[in-house]
Order: sequence, then structure tokens, then C-alpha cells
Amino acid sequence: GISDKVLEVCSELILSEKHLNEVMERLRKEIVKGLSKETNETATVKCFPTYVRNLPNGKERGKFLALDLGGTNFRVLLIELGGDNREPTKFKMQSKIYAIPQNIMLGPGEALFDHIADCLATFIIENSMKREVLPLGFTFSFPLRQEGLTKARLVTWTKGFKCAGVENEDVVRLLKEAICRRGDVEIDVCAVLNDTTGTLMSCAWLNPNCRVGLIVGTGTNACYVEKLENVGLWDSDYNEPAKVIINTEWGAFGDNGVLDFILTDYDRDVDEQSINRGKQLYEKMISGMYMGEIARLILERLTKDGHLFNGQGSDNLYKRGNFFTKYISEIESDKPGEYQNCRQVLEELCLNYITDQDCKDVRYVCEVVSKRAAQMAAAGVACLLNKMGEKSVVVAVDGSVYRFHPHFHNLMTETINRLADPGIKFDLMLSEDGSGRGAALVAAVACHNRTGPG
Ligand code: BG6
Ligand code: GLC
Repeated sequence: GISDKVLEVCSELILSEKHLNEVMERLRKEIVKGLSKETNETATVKCFPTYVRNLPNGKERGKFLALDLGGTNFRVLLIELGGDNREPTKFKMQSKIYAIPQNIMLGPGEALFDHIADCLATFIIENSMKREVLPLGFTFSFPLRQEGLTKARLVTWTKGFKCAGVENEDVVRLLKEAICRRGDVEIDVCAVLNDTTGTLMSCAWLNPNCRVGLIVGTGTNACYVEKLENVGLWDSDYNEPAKVIINTEWGAFGDNGVLDFILTDYDRDVDEQSINRGKQLYEKMISGMYMGEIARLILERLTKDGHLFNGQGSDNLYKRGNFFTKYISEIESDKPGEYQNCRQVLEELCLNYITDQDCKDVRYVCEVVSKRAAQMAAAGVACLLNKMGEKSVVVAVDGSVYRFHPHFHNLMTETINRLADPGIKFDLMLSEDGSGRGAALVAAVACHNRTGPG
């Protein structure tokens, strides 16, 4: 079994049914606050209307560029919807990953947008498309207050980015200006969107029941389809379809203290050491940028107290950020009773004297941390499902944690089954193509002259 001391230290990360119900109820209240015009300004969960109102109908076609910024990889994509034979639901996609160095993630905004424009131009030139003016969908995975499909101000940076001079600015304008500064390529920015929206659209293209987009990756967030009558913030027409995709930005849930009742010293430590202290507290309990560090802090404490590795730690184990979230996925991928990946990870951290008991305990720490993350995310999804009240909903999911953790899908599904109102059916569906196709679809709907059978 697991050592008593390990069980004791981990116990505060175990959520009861009562905790989870409370999380759901509190999130529902924060979402209602976000949606209302009167309370949005002070709300933590901002619930931004995206101006995306039509889900794809399969008739979208044409050639599109897309930028995908804010996840693990920055990508430039070329997507062809409809294909040569104009058959619906066929598409071709080509993409290239470009690195974004740390100094650019933390440097001046102009340098970031110059870098993005540089990668885009390189991609266009490499693919011999310099003579075309292609429509582009810009997936920008940070909190945006949208003023339309092509105008959106960054509210605040999240995750690992902090570029000066971008907050409060229209990121579409910044992108266009950077492209103009170069002068060698021309593009037509048709839409800016969040990765959750891209994920939802991408999945809705194949599955008309898709109503929620969820990311559990570097960060976490969700969007869902809401009736306009529930969106007090809505400032445009009420024509059909009388609904809009809402980008909840639920990562900021808890920033007003409503999650303090379940926060642990490890969560507070992770927050203290982050570049956005006091912000994105729900995100910091769930997503990949922080999960490994929570586990590391617990392992460090257990080792220093003499309950792991015979009390013999290593500089590597004690160094911040050194226990990657992917280690959790690897360790939990070991067959029960086997510790091959676990030993490999611990050796990478230069730990010696590893017993089977140590491995068992380390695995347990990982399980507790990832299970809490999955259950917290599940409470969020159940909250959205209950709020929408539809009988059958497909939830499109993307992100490295959901994709690579061996039990995340099952943990989430079990928990949502318990928390969602009886009679609600749902499916968590992995989005295979990232948000690139979604960006093309939003761009296609936006540049409607390019859609339809004609
Ligand atoms: C990718 C999407 O597949 O997943 C991105 O294309 C998204 O738009 C990303 O941001 C999220 O996952 P991660 O783990 O890369 O942050
Ligand atoms: C962060 C961003 C949000 C994004 C999420 C997942 O929470 O603020 O916009 O959707 O990460 O990438």
C-alpha cells in the first residue's frame, strides 16, 4: 500500500462530492455575473461574446491561412476546405511549427508581432503563395474582449506570455501593422478567435451536436453556445441564429477568493512564483503549465521530511519547474505494479536509492494531483452542461494534458456523469486537428463571399 505519511500529506488534495458541487455552484454564479452587463466589469469569469454565431454547415470552402498562438506550439497553417471536388467535410491542411523564444514571450509586443509576421511571410514564400491575398483566421489564445470578429483587445496576458504594450490593444491591428512594416506579403485578416472557439468549430463541422469547446493544455478554458437572451453583454443584433459562442475564460475562476476553501499550500506556492500572481487560480489547479510543479512541491516536502528516497533528495528534484507535467502522464502510464517509466523519470532527476515503495508513493502523488485537475475541469464542464440544459451535447476537447494523460478522459467522464443533471447525455471528443481548421471555418463564415456552393 501507500505509506501513511504520503496518504496524510496528499489528503488535502482529495475533493469530496460536496467540494465538487460547491465548485460547480460557485462557477455558475461567476458565469452569470460575467454575462451580465451590470456586473461584468467586476466579474472574474469574463464570459466574452465571440461574435461567432453560426456553427459550420459543411458547405464552407476555400483556401485559408491560420495562425495559432498561445499553446505549446506556434503554428502557421494553410487549410483548404471543400477540396477540389467541393465535397463537403473534406479538407487539406499543411502546417509548420515555429519557435517563440522566451525573450520574445517576455519582451516588447512589437517584437512579438514582428516575429509572427516574419514566420507568416516565410511560410507564404516557402509555399509560393506570395501573389495570392489569402483570408486568415488568427487563433490568439488569451483573454480577448471582442468588439467584432476582427477587432479584439487583449485584456491581460496569461500562461507564459508578458509582452509590454499589448494589453488593452487590438491584436488584429498589431498583426496587420507588423505585416505592413514588412511590406512583402499581403493577407486579409477575417477573424480573430480563441483556441476554445477553434476547437468547438472544428468539431462542430463534423458533429452538429457540438456545443462546448474545452482546452486542458498549457492553460485551461472553455467556450459554449449561449442564447442571446442570456447574454446581457450582447450589443449587436438579435437576428437568427439568436445565439453566440461565449468564451468563458474560466481560468480566472477563483481570482476573487471563491476557491480559497480548497486551495492548498502547494497551490499558493505555485501562484506566488508565477508571473501572474493572484490570477488564473482555477487554471493553476488544472493545467499543464502548473501541474508538474504542484507534484514536485509535494515530492520535495515528502523527501525533506524523510518519507521518500530515504530522505536523500537531489538538486534536480528541488529545482522549480524541473518536474514536467509530461512526467505525470508517463508515470501513470506504467502498468499497475510496474515502475519502468517512474524509475526512468526519477533517474533523470538524479535520485538514488529508489525502492519500489518510493515508486508506489511517487505514482500516488501524481495520481492525486492529476485526478484533482480532471475533477476540477469536470466540475466546470458539468456546470456548463447544466446551464445549457440540452439533452445531448458533444464537448470538443484539445490540449496536451487531455491528449497525453492516460486517464484524464475517463476521470473527467466519470466525474461529469456524477455531476451533470440526470437526463443529460454528453461525449468528450478529442479534436484531432487542433484549432487550425476551426480558425479557417470562422474565417470562412466571416468572409461569406467565399462560402456557399457558388
Ligand atoms: C492545439 C491547438 O492543438 O492545442 C491550439 O491547435 C491550442 O490552438 C492547444 O492552444 C492547446 O494545447 P497545449 O497543450 O498546446 O497548450
Ligand atoms: C488561458 C487563456 C485562454 C486559453 C487557455 C487555453 O487560460 O487565457 O484564452 O483559451 O489558456 O489555451
